[in-house]
Order: sequence, then structure tokens, then C-alpha cells
Amino acid sequence: MTNSAPQPTDVSPIEVPTAVREAARAARRVTVLTGAGMSAESGVPTFRGAKGGLWEEFDPMTLASQRGWDADPDLVWAWYAWRIGLVRALEPNAGHRALARWANGGGVEVRIATQNVDDLHERAGSEVLAHVHGDLFALRCSVCGAPFEDEPEIPAEPVQRLEPPLCGECGEYVRPGVVWFGGMLPEGAFDAALDACLDADLVLVVGTSGIVYPFASLPDIARGHGVTVVEINPEDTDLSSGVDHVWRATAATALPALVEALEADPA
Ligand code: APR
Repeated sequence: MTNSAPQPTDVSPIEVPTAVREAARAARRVTVLTGAGMSAESGVPTFRGAKGGLWEEFDPMTLASQRGWDADPDLVWAWYAWRIGLVRALEPNAGHRALARWANGGGVEVRIATQNVDDLHERAGSEVLAHVHGDLFALRCSVCGAPFEDEPEIPAEPVQRLEPPLCGECGEYVRPGVVWFGGMLPEGAFDAALDACLDADLVLVVGTSGIVYPFASLPDIARGHGVTVVEINPEDTDLSSGVDHVWRATAATALPALVEALEADPA
């Protein structure tokens, strides 16, 4: 576990595939579905992928399930405290910033639904329609559910075990606001993402392996309703064969290139 922040990768724009540029240029409502790969170039580890991921180093059922929490809350809390410290030390990348610029540029509605529990979209200036897998910073009591507004102790260096903070209401342990495997999604989050996909002209799927459901069902549902779907991912995924266009590129290179191309030649 390290806290070193790699440098953002603002590189010169790459070639934008014509079909992607034309679909984006014609779109008035764009829905962007993002996953861990969206934050990879900021230094947030992904969970899976050819270059490895957190779930190759850590057991998801021990660290990201109710059973794991019940068995050992200190171990689970220490891990989330590390992730909170890590994300705080990192910055949005050029991809996050490009989406914010596109959304704030006018003429097109850009809505973001994410699986990511970090706040990098928001810190880049984007409004996020739905954090479908929860929010790392929305701490709440694991028993009474009361929000925990105080500042949790985040060790400067990662630790193996750390007692969770205590709820001010009932004194029980406070847990991270993320969705654990087998857990309930935040109320209305999935429906909001689904609605945004169904009335979009274009859906961009950025940086997800497409294996965690129900979020992974969104691109297919959108395409089934005649919406153009584009995947942006340097690697092949379970979604690749079911989209209209695949753009093998990273989030922090593809999205700035796309937005610059649209700004250079607006609709
Ligand atoms: N730009 C774009 N995509 C990238 C980049 C990058 N710089 N780097 C990696 N990727 C791609 C990988 O190729 C992979 O397909 O991002 C994807 C990351 O996949 P996962 O780690 O599986 O992340 P995600 O799909 O968001 O996981 C879904 O699983 O563990 C749970 O709750 C957790 O929300 C998470 C869910």
C-alpha cells in the first residue's frame, strides 16, 4: 500500500476516431458511465485489468462485504481509511477535467453516472448524477445509519488494523458509504443512471471491465433502445462486443482529445 501520487498525464491530443467524433458532435444529451479506469491516471488503483488490480492483492469478500465487516471491522476500516487518504492526496486527471469542460461548455447536456466511490469528478467541476456504488466520504453508522459528519482519523501511513470511529448517536461503529458485494445500491441511483441512458443520444462507457451488475447492464439496455454506445478503454472488456464503437485509449488521453475536437469544430 503506497500513498505516492503519480503525475497527471496531460499529453498531446490523440487521433479521435471519426465515428466517435461525429456521434459526439451530433449529440445533445450525452451520458457518461465511468468505472475505476477513469481514475487510474490520477493514481487510484483499479480492481481488475491486465496490469493487475486491488482484487489481485486483497480478498474482496474480506474487505468489501458485510460478512467481512462483521468478522473484522478494524481490518476493513483500516483499508478504507487508506483509500480515503489516497484519494485525498490525488488530483482529478485530464479526463475528469475534459468531461467538466464539455458539460460546462453549453449546447450539450453531459450527465455522469459512476461506479467510482472517489470524488474526482466533482473536484474536476462535474456534477455527478449518481454514484451507483456509493461514496467513500459519505460515512454513516453501521447500525443506526446516522451520517457521520466528524473528521475520521486517517493515518499518514497505511496501517493493517484501525478501530472505526464511533457513531455520535448510538455509539456503534461507523462504516464507509460504499456498496459492498451483495449490498443494496443507494436508493434511486441505478434508476437515475438508467433513465439518463435511455434518453441519451450517446452513451460513453469509460474505464470499466463491465463485469459488475446491474451497472454493467446499462450499455446493452441503452443500445437496445437505439442509443449509440462507445467504449473508451485501453483493453478489451466483456462489453466490447456489444457496443457500436470501441476506442482503445485511456480516459485522460481520449476525453481531452474528443472535447478539443468538438471545440475546434462545433456542431
Ligand atoms: N483509462 C481507461 N480505462 C482504463 C484505464 C485508463 N487509464 N486503466 C485501466 N482501465 C480499464 C481496465 O482495462 C479495466 O477494463 O478500466 C477497467 C477497470 O476495471 P475494474 O477494475 O474492474 O473497475 P470497475 O469496472 O469500475 O469495477 C466495478 O467492482 O470492485 C467493484 O465496486 C467496485 O465499482 C467497482 C466495481
